[in-house]
Amino acid sequence: MREIESFTDLLPCSTEVVQVLGELRDVPHVWPEEDASVACAVPRRQAEFATTRECARRALERLGYLPRAIPVGAHREPGWPPGAVGSLTHGAGLCAAAVALKSACRSVGIDVEYNKALPADTLEFVAGAAERSALALLGASEPLIAWDRLLFSAKEAIFKAWFPITGTWLDFTECTVRIDAPRGRFRGVLHPEGDTHWEFGIMSIEGRWGLMGSRLLTAVVVPHDEAHRR
Ligand SMILES: CC(C)(COP(=O)(O)OP(=O)(O)OC[C@H]1O[C@@H](n2cnc3c(N)ncnc32)[C@H](O)[C@@H]1OP(=O)(O)O)[C@@H](O)C(=O)NCCC(=O)NCCS
Repeated sequence: MREIESFTDLLPCSTEVVQVLGELRDVPHVWPEEDASVACAVPRRQAEFATTRECARRALERLGYLPRAIPVGAHREPGWPPGAVGSLTHGAGLCAAAVALKSACRSVGIDVEYNKALPADTLEFVAGAAERSALALLGASEPLIAWDRLLFSAKEAIFKAWFPITGTWLDFTECTVRIDAPRGRFRGVLHPEGDTHWEFGIMSIEGRWGLMGSRLLTAVVVPHDEAHRR
């Protein structure tokens, strides 16, 4: 089992991670440029949004950026300052931000989920037949991990790294993920409609996963040399 303490354990040292675990107290203010997207949201959503963005500001400060708003893009993507890439996640009692300089990598994606099986009937939308067979084998060998949830999380992390590069949607069926259980890794092979992956030189996205208490954490990095990998 891959027990970890933080997203830091899943990402290269060029990536700065700030995370807040547990009940959200002393919730920071949302910046005016960010406010519109959560002004009407329920209090929990507002608290997670504000906390996660504060995590991002603190992580960016470690890269040398002054505190700044992180606006919400037209497709919900976070607006990173020039020269930075990053990713946000909140849920399962965890708010986290991972950022890096654009010179270090093309993109980052992180996701957190409870280590709990997906609701019935969800898996067929998330995984193809080959992926479902692999999940069944993994479940037989290591029943304490909700492998279907891990696959889902890996695909969400992949999407969060994919979108900022391509600006295009990626359906769950347009990426086939293979989980390497012993090494705590996974690899998503991309096959989007329209073959956008060729245009952007991203054939696959690799990542790492771990179990942090009752949570599954996934993280991916798209390196600059991805165009050369097949
Ligand atoms: C975008 C998505 C991945 C976000 O996941 P989520 O379950 O809402 O939960 P998380 O808390 O982990 O992530 C939320 C954060 O993702 C980030 N995010 C949302 N849309 C994004 C996008 N288009 N690009 C990059 N990051 C995005 C945001 O920062 C968001 O936080 P915020 O709304 O507070 O700013 C999910 O809602 C979704 O649309 N999934 C379908 C696409 C997909 O995953 N395809 C799989 C391809 S293999």
